[in-house]
Amino acid sequence: MRLVVLGANGRTGKFVLGHALAKNMDVTAVVRSADKAPDLQNENLQVKVGDPCDPVFLASVLHDKDAVISALGGRLPTKAATSVYFRSAASITEAASATGLRRILVTSTALLFPDQTLPGKILRAIVPNVVRSAGRMEDILKTSGLDWTSARPGFLNDTHVATYRAERGSLPEKGTAVSRLALAHFLIDAVDDARTKGAAYGVSQASL
Ligand SMILES: NC(=O)c1ccc[n+]([C@@H]2O[C@H](COP(=O)([O-])OP(=O)(O)OC[C@H]3O[C@@H](n4cnc5c(N)ncnc54)[C@H](OP(=O)(O)O)[C@@H]3O)[C@@H](O)[C@H]2O)c1
Repeated sequence: MRLVVLGANGRTGKFVLGHALAKNMDVTAVVRSADKAPDLQNENLQVKVGDPCDPVFLASVLHDKDAVISALGGRLPTKAATSVYFRSAASITEAASATGLRRILVTSTALLFPDQTLPGKILRAIVPNVVRSAGRMEDILKTSGLDWTSARPGFLNDTHVATYRAERGSLPEKGTAVSRLALAHFLIDAVDDARTKGAAYGVSQASL
């Protein structure tokens, strides 16, 4: 598996990178500045510095790869910061179509599920840009004709727990939180699991 990881220096991206290398995948980590390159020595790791929202740059990275995982997300819930969701989706789908890559996995948000609890409804109202931008990202993937999977977690945390529950089309029962490590494990498990293609998955902590 020749895998590209976007947002490889982010908190989830680092776990995706580490788990992919542990599984002996050939990994290309994309970061937007050289000082954010992973501090790892591994013969299966390459690093590319550039803008993941630039389809020309991205095509140069994707051209001989099998799959891309995006752990990109705005650091703030503003319109500008969250636009990375749909701007990168447009870039990924354009670059993938140009290079023949078909498999795309992204991190999104459980706030896109229609059946929200009261806290979910309140949160949707507090961070409308997150909801709109993630929705635009998924709409781009849905119409791309590519083999996409969207991981929709609830609250992310940094506990060292790798197990998870994942459900197609909904958040698992009482699954309001999940660790970034477990989210990374879901993404790597899903990358070559054909059953996960063409769908959004709710990803949550393993225990109720
Ligand atoms: N926090 C939560 O509770 C929560 C809940 C549900 C879903 N999510 C989503 O889950 C995913 C992972 O979250 P996380 O907390 O692990 O992420 P994170 O640590 O904030 O990392 C975000 C990554 O996106 C990159 N990025 C952001 N804006 C960019 C831009 N304009 N151009 C290029 N790169 C950009 C960052 O790069 P730089 O370091 O260069 O900025 C970083 O690599 C994200 O999609 C997030 O939105 C989070």
